[in-house]
Amino acid sequence: MFESVAPRPNDPIMVVMEKCKADTRPEKIDLGVGVYKDSSGITTILKSVKLAEEMWNREETTKTYVGTVGNQDFCKDMLELMLGADSQALKEGRIGAAQTAGGSGALRLGAELLKVAAPNATVWASTPTWANHIPLISDAGMRMGSYPYYNRETLGVDFEDMLTYLDGHAKRGDIILLHGCCHNPTGADLSPEQWDRLAPFMEERGLFPFIDLAYFGLGRGMKEDTYGLRKVVQTCPEVLLAASCSKNFALYRERTGLIAAITQSSEKAKVLKSQFGAIQRKLISMPPDHGAALVTRILRDESLRKIWVEELAEMRERVLGLRQLLSEALNVQGGEAMAAAIKNQNGMFSTLPLSPEHTERLRDEHAVYLMPSGRINIAGANASNIPRLAEAILAVH
Ligand code: LMR
Repeated sequence: MFESVAPRPNDPIMVVMEKCKADTRPEKIDLGVGVYKDSSGITTILKSVKLAEEMWNREETTKTYVGTVGNQDFCKDMLELMLGADSQALKEGRIGAAQTAGGSGALRLGAELLKVAAPNATVWASTPTWANHIPLISDAGMRMGSYPYYNRETLGVDFEDMLTYLDGHAKRGDIILLHGCCHNPTGADLSPEQWDRLAPFMEERGLFPFIDLAYFGLGRGMKEDTYGLRKVVQTCPEVLLAASCSKNFALYRERTGLIAAITQSSEKAKVLKSQFGAIQRKLISMPPDHGAALVTRILRDESLRKIWVEELAEMRERVLGLRQLLSEALNVQGGEAMAAAIKNQNGMFSTLPLSPEHTERLRDEHAVYLMPSGRINIAGANASNIPRLAEAILAVH
């Protein structure tokens, strides 16, 4: 039966993660997989999560099924957090949502809904984009294309090229996949002014926004990180939103996320929610509950929420501090462009102008792990190893 089955390579992020885990050099620096780490290199469980877990353990009375659309209180609270409690779409009940198995589960459910709603449309993704976007979405049967986004020379967004390309290639009804903030893998985000132009651009051309919001709160602040999403929701008649609690609640393995379809009427929202439920049923039946129960508990309990807001700010400020330090350390002859980009970019990632050969040398000669594309997760560094990291980057560059 299995004789003809050949091994399959894992995606590059998982490959780097496994290689780094196996490396026994004590000085190794892990800038690979996108998880937040504290200054001792540990991905701790948040205090707010621990406290919520203690309460939940005392109070939870059943493990019976929640349902195919998962915890709807969680969806409501998360939508309020991202869109603002005064969101018209929320107030008018124009959002159909389902809890999902992490942000990846959300993207997959979104793609499956697109397959039902617009099977012949193309989903356009930025160049580059997260390593799992294309496999996840194309595996649902959607055709995919790429639009220009990151310029590896200027280390910034080629916004005019992006608009010109989409104008010439994307057809009415096509889907534009956008990173709401903290672009993965580049850290190069659209500015508020660019979102202000992109939203009406999509609306006028009948392009459908699909926003992936996996890192909100870890860029410049909760409001700043949701600016683009809010602008698009105010401007475009229909939007898909995939969100994750992996990073901002540090719930990684608990697989906690949601998919939301923002539409024009509460009746249509109910239809779309029923679609999410039916699709999820056939894929995994129901999402795992634990992480969503904790997030709901945190967001509804004033003191837990306060602790979480502070913890999130601490993570964000640590990342910003590391950006500043790495930028200063790289700001020598030959490193100026990298230094400027690292300082201006958002979230945990930056893509440096390094080739796969450079990244191999960084691994073999300096015990520095990063993606072959040049992506680094800045949260994997710390104040004491940044000078060595900067030296290593400059040495191979
Ligand atoms: C990453 O980009 O490294 C993270 O989103 C983790 C993952 O699942 O790829």
